[in-house]
Amino acid sequence: MQNQRIDSIELLEISKISDPDGRGNLSVIEKGTLPYEVKRVYYLYDVPSDATRGGHAHLELQQCLIALSGSFDVLLDDGKNRTKVHLNKPNRGLIIPSGIWRELENFSSGAVCLALVSDVYKEEDYIRDYKDFVFYKTK
Ligand code: TYD
Repeated sequence: MQNQRIDSIELLEISKISDPDGRGNLSVIEKGTLPYEVKRVYYLYDVPSDATRGGHAHLELQQCLIALSGSFDVLLDDGKNRTKVHLNKPNRGLIIPSGIWRELENFSSGAVCLALVSDVYKEEDYIRDYKDFVFYKTK
């Protein structure tokens, strides 16, 4: 959606079930956890610390990013305002609505970024040029 603003971005605390016998933690995402139905899952890994991923916005697609391991920063931009979110917990999700520019950077060694996505891959849903994005937001 064209008019989405930075304040529509949500941080989701995902329930954590800690094992009473010290066997670690378990987190669950199921129907109803996210504000959309998940149609695709992808993950980023082995990302060099000086690399930037993302660098685009989506016309319709929504996604939730989770640092399953390690950490990274997500720069978010609605064409007017910018913010940066540091993800470093496997039980925290960043829900990015459509119409928000994002860049992922500062990946720690061993970081894994899980993306839970509202649609299958469609290149026509991407805005990959920042100037096009700003133009789209001011239309
Ligand atoms: P891209 O979305 O540009 O990656 P990032 O935003 O993380 O830098 O995708 C990189 C390549 O992978 C591009 O050629 C498209 C392809 N791709 C798929 O085929 N399916 C997918 O679900 C995704 C996310 C990417």
